[in-house]
This record gives sequence, structure tokens and C-alpha cells, in this order.
Amino acid sequence: MNVSDAIATRKSVRAFRPDPVPRETVEDILSRAARAPSGGNLQPWKVYVLMGGARDELVRRVAEARKTHPMGEPPEYHIYPPHLTEPYRTRRFRVGEQMYAKYGIPREDKPARLRAFARNWEFFGAPVGMIFTIARQMQQGQWADLGMFMENIMLLAREHGLHSCPQEAWAVWHRVIREYLSVPESEMVFCGMSLGYADESAPVNSLVSERAALDEFAVFRE
Ligand SMILES: Cc1cc2nc3c(=O)[nH]c(=O)nc-3n(C[C@H](O)[C@H](O)[C@H](O)COP(=O)(O)O)c2cc1C
Repeated sequence: MNVSDAIATRKSVRAFRPDPVPRETVEDILSRAARAPSGGNLQPWKVYVLMGGARDELVRRVAEARKTHPMGEPPEYHIYPPHLTEPYRTRRFRVGEQMYAKYGIPREDKPARLRAFARNWEFFGAPVGMIFTIARQMQQGQWADLGMFMENIMLLAREHGLHSCPQEAWAVWHRVIREYLSVPESEMVFCGMSLGYADESAPVNSLVSERAALDEFAVFRE
């Protein structure tokens, strides 16, 4: 698989088959992904990989925590800017509407939308769950580095026939995650990621998200 194919076939998958992914495969993906560039070669990423019972236990703890905090707690950072302006607002709205349309859930059915959203906290059924943290001292540049590491993981996954979904939804469980995984206070929970084999029969996985045209984001000067 070449890079273009990996990029073209990567998508956020929101329904996985339970088939396990060998630990060696995950280790191979992560080792290669760490070739990502980073300013000053700081390599400011850290990932907690959860498989088997360890993955199930986080899901269980979050389900338990939801009894008192159904939608989690405020994250430690702004997932989106507090006052999102155009065109970002509309883009966010559109992909959300398209996703719930694939689930077959109408706008008015808020409980069903919440139930679908809460599948985030089950890693959408994926056998591998990852939690990404970053040292609090790190600045915007290092968060970008972490993003490049994560993209490498998602592209390398394609070589193994695997799919992924990056998940900021996990940021609302930073307290539960910190306690369970003994994440030091010096690290901030950024997000999670599901990794596994896509359930191709799930309608939600047929979503192809839109992209702006080149001239909307690229400025050429000659
Ligand atoms: C950092 C990051 C966090 C994300 N968090 C979530 C999430 O919590 N739940 C979810 O379903 N999708 C999440 N997404 C997926 C985005 O919605 C998705 O990337 C976007 O709509 C484009 O679709 P595509 O990934 O299928 O190309 C996240 C993506 C990124 C990059």
C-alpha cells in the first residue's frame, strides 16, 4: 500500500469487529509511527495501549462513572474554541448531521444521539484502545507533533488492514483515566483512539466526510 492509498482509505471508523489485533502488530505500528518529525526531536508523545481485560476495565470504569456524570467532566483543555466561527461551525455541524443520518437517528431524538455518542467510551467495540497524553509543559508546536504521531499510527494501521478513530471524547474522562492508568499529574490527557478491524456492514462506516476545495485552504504565490 502506498501513502496515497493509506490516506485515501483512512477514515474514522465507528463500529469495529471484536477480532483481536496481535500485540506485535500494535508494537510494530507504534515503533514506526514514532519516526514522526517533532520540533527539536522532542518526541513529545506518550501513549497508553489498552488491550483485552485492561481495555474492558477502562470501559467498565467509565460506565460506572457515567452513573454520576452521564457526559463526563469538563476536559482539561478546550476541545473546540469556545466561540467557533465560520466556516468551522458549519463543517462541524455538517459532519455531525451526516454521521447521525448514517446511524438513522433524527435530530429530535436526543437520547438516541447520546447513546450513539456514548459508544465512543466503548472504543466503538474495537479490541485496542489507546490514550494519548502530553506533558503539560508542552506548547502548541508539540501538540502538532503529537498529531503527526497519531496520523502515522492511523496510516500505518491501513497497511495491516486495520482502521482507527481518533477520539477527543475520552478527554472528559481524564480523571478516571488518570486514576486507572496512574497517569502522572505532569501529563495531560489529550485524546483516545480506537484501533481494530472495521465492521463494514455498519452503515455509520460508510460515511465519507467532506473536504474543502484546495483554493479554500491553500494560498499560492508565484
Ligand atoms: C484529534 C481528533 C479527535 C477526534 N475525536 C473524535 C471523537 O471523539 N469521536 C468521533 O466519533 N470522532 C472523532 N474524531 C473524528 C473526526 O470527526 C473526523 O476525523 C472528521 O470528521 C473527518 O472524518 P474522517 O476522519 O472520516 O476523514 C476526531 C478526530 C481528531 C483528529
